[in-house]
Amino acid sequence: MSKIRVLTVFGTRPEAIKMAPLVKELEKQPDVFKSIVCVTAQHRQMLDQVLKLFNIIPDYDLNIMKPNQDLWTITAEVLMLMKTVFEECRPDIVLVHGDTTTSMAAALSAFYARIPVGHVEAGLRTFDKHYPFPEEINRVFADAVCSYHFAPTDTSVQNLIKSAIPQEHIYKTGNTVIDALLHTVENNKADLSYIGLNPELKTILLTSHRRENFGEPIRNICKAVLELVEKNKDIQVVYPVHLNPNVQKPVRELLEGKERIHLIDPMEYAPFSTLMKESHIIMTDSGGVQEEAPSLGKPVLVLRTTTERPEAVEYGTVKLVGTDTKKIVEEIQNLLDNPEEYKKMSESVNPYGDGLASQRIVDIIKKNFLK
Ligand code: UD1
Ligand code: UDP
Repeated sequence: MSKIRVLTVFGTRPEAIKMAPLVKELEKQPDVFKSIVCVTAQHRQMLDQVLKLFNIIPDYDLNIMKPNQDLWTITAEVLMLMKTVFEECRPDIVLVHGDTTTSMAAALSAFYARIPVGHVEAGLRTFDKHYPFPEEINRVFADAVCSYHFAPTDTSVQNLIKSAIPQEHIYKTGNTVIDALLHTVENNKADLSYIGLNPELKTILLTSHRRENFGEPIRNICKAVLELVEKNKDIQVVYPVHLNPNVQKPVRELLEGKERIHLIDPMEYAPFSTLMKESHIIMTDSGGVQEEAPSLGKPVLVLRTTTERPEAVEYGTVKLVGTDTKKIVEEIQNLLDNPEEYKKMSESVNPYGDGLASQRIVDIIKKNFLK
């Protein structure tokens, strides 16, 4: 019996977190699978943090990241460099994840090489090509060229059907982010003392990095934080600041050195999960955090006007608030002042998975490829 050669490709922090459980699952069956890992390193430090945590040593590292890189360069480099990787390792199937430019370009490159592609976290949509930018188009492209669509929820299955993907190519698996989160929360006790948080105060956790929030929106978010901290002496804000210079610059200009505001480096996944658990409220424009926080029973205010993850909004634990300073302040203040409102939003719900998504994906690959 020849082994199924599975090439997993990823490049950024969230892809790494969500693909790591799948790589580990493939590695559990060495008689069936030859697991090959290629990182584009669209992210460098933030990717390496995850590789270390999950103990993954890539077979290929394209090492493409450049300071303040642009979309053209990432796309061109991944598209070209993957060609050589395919020629060298001849995979039976390539797996990509989600909506980054790494995923879109790697999927297209595999399609050009006529290698079947599986899309993990397929079918997420806002149906607005500019929000989020460029992720909505990245995932539409990836879905268009993939042959196996691993959709996390019923909504994503329906979106794929609406996008004319043949139903027999769609598999509802749950989201591998829950596999990663459950594994990490269970196996890692993280020490947060280095942040210097005051245990007497309520912690608001903030993350923001979306391209469409660069400029005025991110400044508005920072102004809301300043106003909230000024008004509420019993809160503190912790913000692990994304390494993108378009985020670093305005955030450091507006928030550095302010009382009860902790600007810290991007956190390793284990301490970040612990911090989510210990926070009172989470403000974010992150996709992954929107999926993780509801299962930890944390209210999430999303700093965007649309989301491709409507499930937790429907349950009432996630609310879209946009990036208007006044609106953000009102919504957070409401949660701080009204225990009833807070309670409603902090129900623990988990529409995104049960921790077994990777196992399902591996089973599907096995069924389809075992000769
Ligand atoms: C990328 C993805 C986005 C995803 C996000 C997760 C695209 C177009 N964007 O956006 O979908 O939500 O990752 O975080 O695929 N940098 C470092 N070290 C790192 C990571 C980034 O220094 O480890 C800096 C570099 O200057 C780099 C810049 O951040 O050029 C931007 O990185 P890039 O991957 O292009 O964009 P993100 O905003 O991180
Ligand atoms: N995350 C992390 N450290 C941080 C901030 C986020 O490990 O300092 C994790 C978070 O738990 C989630 C993922 O990174 O799993 C989300 O990544 P990001 O917000 O960068 O990207 P997105 O999900 O928006 O694409």
